[in-house]
Amino acid sequence: MENLTREDIIEILKDDSQNEALFSYADKIRKQYVGDEVHLRGLIEFSNICKRECKYCGLRCENKSVERYRIMPDDIILYAKKAVDMGYKTIVLQSGEDEYYSCDIMCKIIEGIKKLNVALTLSCGEKNYDEYKAFKNAGADRYLIRIETTDKKLYEKMHPHADFENRIRCLKDLGKLGYEVGTGCLVGLPEQTIESLADDILFFKEINADMIGIGPFIPHQQTPLKDAPSGSFNLALKVMALTRILLKNINIPATTAMETLNPNGRIIALQSGANVVMPNVTTTEYRAKYEIYPGKICINENPTQCRGCIEGKIKSIGRTISDNYGFRSN
Ligand code: 5AD
Ligand code: FES
Repeated sequence: MENLTREDIIEILKDDSQNEALFSYADKIRKQYVGDEVHLRGLIEFSNICKRECKYCGLRCENKSVERYRIMPDDIILYAKKAVDMGYKTIVLQSGEDEYYSCDIMCKIIEGIKKLNVALTLSCGEKNYDEYKAFKNAGADRYLIRIETTDKKLYEKMHPHADFENRIRCLKDLGKLGYEVGTGCLVGLPEQTIESLADDILFFKEINADMIGIGPFIPHQQTPLKDAPSGSFNLALKVMALTRILLKNINIPATTAMETLNPNGRIIALQSGANVVMPNVTTTEYRAKYEIYPGKICINENPTQCRGCIEGKIKSIGRTISDNYGFRSN
């Protein structure tokens, strides 16, 4: 399993007869390289305004039926403080590509949050080198930007007016600037092949990503992909398990989209290679509006409920909650 070739990966992805063995091997590698601790990252979805048109995403700018919101900088810092008081050691700031948050505004938010002595991850899309550099200098530690698919043709179909090479440039710049870099892909996009999923996994290894988030595609009614079939939970889990087996010591979240397709999805993911969960710490009033895909979990809960819920689930499978910052292990 150590030196899987592209052909091996394709074969494993196509053959479902050994899935349980694959998942338990990924679980073993997870335990060996990153242990039993689960890192919790407090996720703040601070704006659902987005200038982009990703065909799969419910927040795309053409979707006029979303009630848009923006959380003001001081409130973002306040929510981060509440999350830190609840025990979170990492805050993740995620948003659509919303130009209201200029480089200066972002830097002020970053500085405000870093005063709370937490690790900070940003997930707000494609920026230029100087902006990423300014965020880093302001104190940001990590950045998430999924490649979504490494199939350039499919990428271009899914992202009108977007540039695949620029996405790659973002990942490279972030690496050069010393961020911990997170990327990942969607599983089950229309016309996506098993071969391209194998390439996705090899790409994660090639760029030496520190974090990989993988989730099934879930069709959203207000997007051009509304009639497309949903991605498969099992296939997404397999891509995740193989990623653990190949990249070993990285951080892998049990994603919310997995739980949307399977009521026990995050726990199953934690037992198949994942070691991170990103509970929502945004106040309840905004949650339903951040509808990237339908059926998103936790939209009626509040931050305290989610923290309690996920802690209980993690402990029920004999794992522990980490009390450190959860950087990539050596
Ligand atoms: N189904 C599943 N995941 C989605 N994302 C966006 N739209 C969907 C969807 N319809 C994922 C993308 C993005 C992340 C924040 O959410 O991979 O990077
Ligand atoms: Fe939000 Fe379980 S994590 S309700």
